[in-house]
Amino acid sequence: MKKNLILAQVGCGYWGPNLLRVFRELEGSRVKWLCDLDQARLDWAAGRYPDLRLTRDFEEILRDPEVDAVIVATVVVTHHKLARAALAAGKHVFVEKPLAHSAGEARDLAALAARRNLSLGVGHVFLYHPAVSAIKAQLSSGRMGRLCYMDFTRVNPGPPAPKHDVFWDMAPHDVALAIDAAGEPPRWVRATGRRYRRSRVDEAGFMEMGFSRNVLARIHVGWLSSRRVRRVDVYAERGSLFFDDMEAFEKLRIVSPGEDTRAVAKGGAARHLYYGAGDILIPALPPGEPLRAECADFLDSLRRRRQPRSGPEIGVEVVEVLEAAAKSAARGSRVEELR
Ligand SMILES: NC(=O)c1ccc[n+]([C@@H]2O[C@H](COP(=O)([O-])OP(=O)(O)OC[C@H]3O[C@@H](n4cnc5c(N)ncnc54)[C@H](O)[C@@H]3O)[C@@H](O)[C@H]2O)c1
Repeated sequence: MKKNLILAQVGCGYWGPNLLRVFRELEGSRVKWLCDLDQARLDWAAGRYPDLRLTRDFEEILRDPEVDAVIVATVVVTHHKLARAALAAGKHVFVEKPLAHSAGEARDLAALAARRNLSLGVGHVFLYHPAVSAIKAQLSSGRMGRLCYMDFTRVNPGPPAPKHDVFWDMAPHDVALAIDAAGEPPRWVRATGRRYRRSRVDEAGFMEMGFSRNVLARIHVGWLSSRRVRRVDVYAERGSLFFDDMEAFEKLRIVSPGEDTRAVAKGGAARHLYYGAGDILIPALPPGEPLRAECADFLDSLRRRRQPRSGPEIGVEVVEVLEAAAKSAARGSRVEELR
């Protein structure tokens, strides 16, 4: 594999500039092309990065034999078409989350990448968050006993003209985290969504997922909150973990079960009955931007001819869950079995 990987990015709206910045900063790669249908977005990029080649014609990127990988940061409904064309042209592909807008499309991309022996990265950036690695390490150490359930909250003011409902837009990260923590995709999904402001898509909702060994997960997503909330609460047999990504420094708290005198006091000496938390550990998390780790892992996957940690497998599983959730929400919150 050549030393400097040549990249091309398609899509530079709200999220695309972050990927562009990070891929440009990483050593061993060069972003040669940026494609966007919107000339105003290309003009913005030209002002900031004068060395970029700009185009509104995606085919121009695919025709360039120098391009090793294509970064797709467009709206979800376009992911399959663009990623498929890039894989078919022999390019490695990184697609923003979620991988595609249907499970069939997602499986098609995963199969094509496998057939062509190409990397297929998916932008589940929270899988690269140091707090998530710390949660996984705690759970797998066995100190907290087995995982019982997880509760996710991800709300903020909504986009001005949403093209997808709130589940497709907001839930992919938490679905990926739940699958990662449970170590497997869920067995069933149930979702309830609501529209409140004459929107044509659901603006807020709740999703529940059931895993084997009685593990549960609940996800609350919404665009009605006037403040940004990013919380992951994990409950295990012998302790709880609280991850708040809005905290600047103390993002993760590991709380041990405390004293509970209510049970032992029954029939014993009269005393004040109470319960409370035990020790609270706030671990020092290694520095580093999750997005940078995600992009670096994708580039490394090209060099080592492997799939990235956030690759086709979890990419497909997340889309299967989102599709089942959409079905459930459309059918009055009916439970949808996945396997
Ligand atoms: N990882 C994260 O935390 C995160 C956050 C926000 C968005 N995203 C994801 O990023 C992707 C883009 O979201 P966004 O909010 O930036 O959308 P956006 O609408 O703001 O930007 C999309 C850009 O793609 C361009 N585009 C659309 N179709 C195109 C095509 N066929 N060819 C070339 N350009 C095209 C548009 O002109 C626009 O500039 C989505 O998959 C979204 O889920 C990820």
